[in-house]
Amino acid sequence: MSKEKIILSLMRPTGKLHLGHYLGVLTNWVNLQNENNCFFGIADWHALTTKFDETDSLKLNTTEVLLDWLGAGIDPDKSTVYLQSMIPETAKLHIYLSMTTPINWAERDPTLKDMAKIMKTKGENEESFSYGLIGYPILMAADILTFNADYVPVGIDQVAHIEITRDIARRFNNIYKTDLLTEPTPKLTQIPLLKGLDGNKMGKSFNNDIKISDTEDVTTKKIMTGITDRSRMRRTDLGHPDECEVIFPYWKIFGSNEEVNEIKCACEKGEIGCADCKKRLSKKVNEKMAPVREKRKYYEEHHSELNDIIYEGSKKARIRAKEVLEQVESKVMVYR
Ligand code: TRP
Ligand code: SF4
Repeated sequence: MSKEKIILSLMRPTGKLHLGHYLGVLTNWVNLQNENNCFFGIADWHALTTKFDETDSLKLNTTEVLLDWLGAGIDPDKSTVYLQSMIPETAKLHIYLSMTTPINWAERDPTLKDMAKIMKTKGENEESFSYGLIGYPILMAADILTFNADYVPVGIDQVAHIEITRDIARRFNNIYKTDLLTEPTPKLTQIPLLKGLDGNKMGKSFNNDIKISDTEDVTTKKIMTGITDRSRMRRTDLGHPDECEVIFPYWKIFGSNEEVNEIKCACEKGEIGCADCKKRLSKKVNEKMAPVREKRKYYEEHHSELNDIIYEGSKKARIRAKEVLEQVESKVMVYR
């Protein structure tokens, strides 16, 4: 089968990924890689927009993210896995697009507005909001347009960025009277989203997540803290699965229909206690994650393969990036 459609997405290397990333994003990417030409990048430049002084953790986090991807089944023989900073063409395109993009397009970016607000409430001075950070959406556009991607699989929070990318591509095309840059379409990753163990959104900064790389013991311990039916005080009280905040919804994601029904009945009749229910769930989750964790471990023990994957992937990515840049420069630069 020919792989015609170009799919591209990147992730900032912020540290070990959790089961929300695994179920919401990575399994989606893994499914896409069989029938499309996929590019998956680690956005280390984007990490620098806010953490320019934390380069040691940047390196470690890049490795952790890569391990999580490979464990989840991103296959370097099917997809091109690369590091953003190994694609100088993206930096060049970023410069060209910085010229054509009005600054107020960047300023209206909702994520940046939020960041500015947070920085203000934290009392950080204006100097921590850098030139690079205001360029965040333009750098994202450059990521996507260097490869002329057709689809960008992202979560809903990133859709505004893809809209700006479309505007940036259209404006470039208008200015230089060309149809060179493809306006990308966001491909929403559906949200069966796993809640955090405390019932809030799962996130690493909330300390309520289960990592892809957690051991079975740690996973079980974490699940034992999950919120259940808050009105159920004793083991013999009748339970209400629909009001069980975290554990029953997890069952619906990790259990078979049969198991979900069985748990529902046993809970409603007060035949199963929450502790037992959580133990059973932990087993389920650990079973499901075992192959992922095993594969992750393999790469952890074969670090040189990781390097090869990133170098080879980035080399391959540059072949396409160079083609696009060549065309861009033939439009923009006079002396060619
Ligand atoms: N901003 C994205 C995030 O925080 C990461 C990202 C950078 C990205 N460049 C991209 C996503 C290009 C999609 C396409 O997750
Ligand atoms: Fe939730 Fe299970 Fe307890 Fe029922 S038995 S309230 S489903 S944890």
